[in-house]
Amino acid sequence: MTQRRLGRGVAIVGAGMSKFGAFPGLSTRDLFVIAFEEMCASVDKGLDPRDIETLYIGNYSSDLFEGQGHTAPIMADWVGLAPRSATRVEDACASSGVALRQGILAIASGLYDVILVGGIEKMTELPTERVTDTLATAGDATYEIPAGFTFPGFYAAIATAYMHRYGATPETFMRVGIKNHDNGALNAKAQFGARIADIMDSKRTRAIERGYPVPEWDGEMDFLHDDRANPVIAWPMRLFDCSPISDGAAALLLVGEELARSFTDDPLYLVGSGQASDVALHDRADLTTLRAARLAAQQAYEMAGVTPADIQVAEVHDCFTIAEVVATEDLGFFAAGEGWRAAEEGRTVRTGPRPINTSGGLKSKGHPVGASGTGQVVEIWKQLRGEAGERQVPGAALGLTHNVGGTGQSCVVHIMERRD
Ligand code: COA
Repeated sequence: MTQRRLGRGVAIVGAGMSKFGAFPGLSTRDLFVIAFEEMCASVDKGLDPRDIETLYIGNYSSDLFEGQGHTAPIMADWVGLAPRSATRVEDACASSGVALRQGILAIASGLYDVILVGGIEKMTELPTERVTDTLATAGDATYEIPAGFTFPGFYAAIATAYMHRYGATPETFMRVGIKNHDNGALNAKAQFGARIADIMDSKRTRAIERGYPVPEWDGEMDFLHDDRANPVIAWPMRLFDCSPISDGAAALLLVGEELARSFTDDPLYLVGSGQASDVALHDRADLTTLRAARLAAQQAYEMAGVTPADIQVAEVHDCFTIAEVVATEDLGFFAAGEGWRAAEEGRTVRTGPRPINTSGGLKSKGHPVGASGTGQVVEIWKQLRGEAGERQVPGAALGLTHNVGGTGQSCVVHIMERRD
């Protein structure tokens, strides 16, 4: 594979996001304004928004979710940036990870110096069945959708193939969910910002208040095995294996590397970027890995000149708990078939040797699909600048994001570095 380099270095000098969740009173525009304002406030030496030259906005399907297409110029208008050019980037759940890559390429080309990269999605206007159908359109409408593949169904197929080949069990995936809720409980921006033990306790309290029989769960694993508390969505994926349906927005400020220190003394440098695609499911040799993720990661590592062992904190695309296990293998953190053991042994917890999804991941933080990729970068921004509070991985200086689109038909990986 050709080793690719950017023609010019790129840095992130600002980052912000709305809370992720279900917000009946807020439109996508409102959420984006919240993210934009937080991003502006995060620029240490101040930002005159008029210096922003163009926008790249990741958005999967406001057309189907909200009846609103052509979202990029609308976002530019709502944050006062018209008449600057504004481009919408659609790559399913990887939309804003790919928008980030487009922003990087635009600065590296020398065309622009200061760029706003955003991610937006508002999914909760529709009932769950219609959300499921809308998301399914990111699959292959000729082959995958007629075969019955919804997203929970697709990841359930990966999970069964993975269990069959490597010996993982549904309990493995439950442990991933417990870990990500533990992390999300420390993140004020998380949709389900509570430990599963706390959710369990609140269900008991609710039962007592309503005079219902009080469930007697013997710990989190017992709760997660209860078909009523944690119903099967697509076996072996249960409710607490799934990311939720979410609204949210995120925003990043990118500048040419040589300009970074005029915005902050603590920029993040984008040292690696990779993107790849894959064929539809029926043409894949192996369901237990996402080839696009492996290739995107390889490109990003080569560009950055680092190895998986060098990465100190990573946000990976855990739209379902099995997806996190597979991601940790595709990214080279663990060998094929070892990711599930690592999850079971607690090697991916916040305080472990390989912290994964310190934000709570898509599982707990939420998954407003077009905003998820930029939301991942907001966590790495906080981690590498030492601003992650109780979630902080001490001394983290090299971080990675892994953002998957559709049934793994696209993946984009970024590596960011803090330099002292
Ligand atoms: N994890 C944990 N709890 C969840 C949850 C999730 N992902 N989603 C909903 N809940 C909880 C709700 O808070 C609610 O709890 P309560 O009864 O204590 O108030 C309960 O489950 C029912 O919520 P509801 O919104 O009615 O759930 P639902 O059955 O309509 O939807 C899923 C649940 C899993 C089907 C839905 O979240 C889903 O489709 N997720 C996957 C989204 C997806 O595919 N994204 C793209 C991935 S590539």
